[in-house]
Amino acid sequence: AMAVRVLEEEPGFNAGVGSALTRDGTVEVDAAIMDGNGLRVGGIGAVPFLRRPIDLARQVLEDGQHCLLVGDGAWEFARERGHERARPEDMITERSRQKLAAHRAEQGNSGGTVGACAIDAAGHVASATSTGGMTGKRPGRVGDSPLPGCGTYADDRAGAASATGTGEAIMRVTMARVCTDEMRRGATAAQAAAASVRDLAERTGLDAGIICIDARGGIGVA
Ligand code: GLY
Repeated sequence: AMAVRVLEEEPGFNAGVGSALTRDGTVEVDAAIMDGNGLRVGGIGAVPFLRRPIDLARQVLEDGQHCLLVGDGAWEFARERGHERARPEDMITERSRQKLAAHRAEQGNSGGTVGACAIDAAGHVASATSTGGMTGKRPGRVGDSPLPGCGTYADDRAGAASATGTGEAIMRVTMARVCTDEMRRGATAAQAAAASVRDLAERTGLDAGIICIDARGGIGVA
């Protein structure tokens, strides 16, 4: 969570400050964190103007009642945990405005979702992902990042993975689960990352990226 929190504060990435804008010019963030020790997961989806998405996802995980909160209920939970709605000027950057303008002119899209995978000395793995989603998205759209097995997955018996790219493609193939399944069958993290990127390309015709760590501590990036 700490690594992702730092990246959320960095305006050059599409997460937290600098998040991609919806077609209405607003910010709605998605995030998840998963603990491979016991398959505990916490996610939040389409939460407007939330500055520290990964902290709220972690609070959902630690609360333990639900795996994913969205909409008004997510904000109610956030307020109970001390979060305050950010001012638009604290999260919208000149770059995110320009990207929305380019999207409206059909010149471009998004990217820059942030993620981290980790393993501790006891061999427990975890992954975390945070994003503003796709530039020009419809308000209310939830991407792959907060969905277990899609943009984020961690299982001590396999490894941990965090994906980036077009959520609609990543969700269809459940990319993070494809990656961790490969590791569970014995692939190294590097092999599993490459296999999951190849699988997504073959099945959807699109590109995506992934980072992962296997249960032996090997890392994969593709
Ligand atoms: N992968 C980020 C998103 O589609 O929301």
